[in-house]
Amino acid sequence: MKEVTGIGSGRATTARRGALAIDGGKPVRTKPLDGPYPGALMMGREEERAAVEVIRSKSLFRYYGPGKPTRALAFEEAFASRIGTRFALGVNSGTSALRTALMAAGVGPGVDVLVPAFSYIATSHEVVACGGRPVFVEIDDSMLIDPSDIENRMTPAARVVTPVHLFGSPADMDRISAVARRLGLRVVEDCAQSCGATYRGQPVGGIGDAGIFSFQLNKLITAGEGGAVCTNDPELADRAVRHHDHGNYRMPGNIPNPFKGVQTFGENLRMTELTAAILRVQLGRLDDILGRLRYAKRSIVQQIEGLPGLRLASVPDPEGDASAAVMMFAPTADLAKRIVAAVQAEGVRVIQQYGGVPMYAAPQMAAAGYRMGQCPRTEDLAGRSIMIGLTTTWSDKDLADIGRAFRKVCGAFFPN
Ligand SMILES: Cc1ncc(COP(=O)(O)O)c(C=O)c1O
Repeated sequence: MKEVTGIGSGRATTARRGALAIDGGKPVRTKPLDGPYPGALMMGREEERAAVEVIRSKSLFRYYGPGKPTRALAFEEAFASRIGTRFALGVNSGTSALRTALMAAGVGPGVDVLVPAFSYIATSHEVVACGGRPVFVEIDDSMLIDPSDIENRMTPAARVVTPVHLFGSPADMDRISAVARRLGLRVVEDCAQSCGATYRGQPVGGIGDAGIFSFQLNKLITAGEGGAVCTNDPELADRAVRHHDHGNYRMPGNIPNPFKGVQTFGENLRMTELTAAILRVQLGRLDDILGRLRYAKRSIVQQIEGLPGLRLASVPDPEGDASAAVMMFAPTADLAKRIVAAVQAEGVRVIQQYGGVPMYAAPQMAAAGYRMGQCPRTEDLAGRSIMIGLTTTWSDKDLADIGRAFRKVCGAFFPN
């Protein structure tokens, strides 16, 4: 594979037919593609009606009000049923869900949590927010936690491991569960980006001791913000309910517990009735959303598979992939940056997710004593990674344009 070094430099100024847009050529498309808002772009009358009903009821708080609030509980019951867990607790963000689940799983001062080195920063921050310490584990070429590195990173204080099912792609839960069992670790699945994904047929979020979800705007279903904690463990559910509501136990209905009132420390991380009402409608759209994302991913993968200079990330369970993104690698970090810039210039939004660096590269992590070099494979893969975030509204023409932009750029960078 030959690389042409002058291509894609962005330095040429005169327009040339067939040239890359970054070098002054005509872009593949000028009309922006819809952004990565899979659930939001599907919103319609039903969400509108659900929101208006809550406003008319004047009962926007889940536990009491002038009317009879029912939406948060109804969403929790429907969500638990979809994920296949005994309990689901609605909260106000994925970050709150992480904190609630980690707290409920016993994370606190003196406790280490094994986290993949590549994820959204909240996966680390919430360990710190609980008073614990994140310990970073390598990813493999799925861009997800490498099960074979978990034991290498084990510490005497480690009690929890948090696999993250990034981009809708389920992590290898058989191997993760096996090593966690052997090491005595609890498993908190971060499913913020993978609502509806399955691993060997089982929904993610119900495989470990707890699973957390985000309903922020970019997620598969959304109310702008929102989150959920799922579990089959009544004790963990009880602790989660208390933590998210100042230590109170006032879950109406689905978690049996004889105790009432403030008994432990806690916070206010509660879900509103408005959020829950919108999410209940969005949940009903989830299969349609998954179908559209999977169609988009299949189309793009077919078009770019085998292009010179690109290798697709592996997917541990392709059948369960919720397909929120297509993830791939360039041969070097420098080429990844140049390909991203060149494809963007063609009118197609691609990015290096999280800046193409591990979580510990963030300045606040360096200030906390974390150093580059601790997960060299993650640094290499993240640096070479390129991501297309998918959405539900792209037409076949849009998908063909994405393929054309990649073929054009790869053809120019790697002739033969
Ligand atoms: C992997 C992961 N974990 C946690 C979160 C936090 O979710 P939220 O933005 O709803 O707080 C996100 C959000 O992007 C995420 O991608």
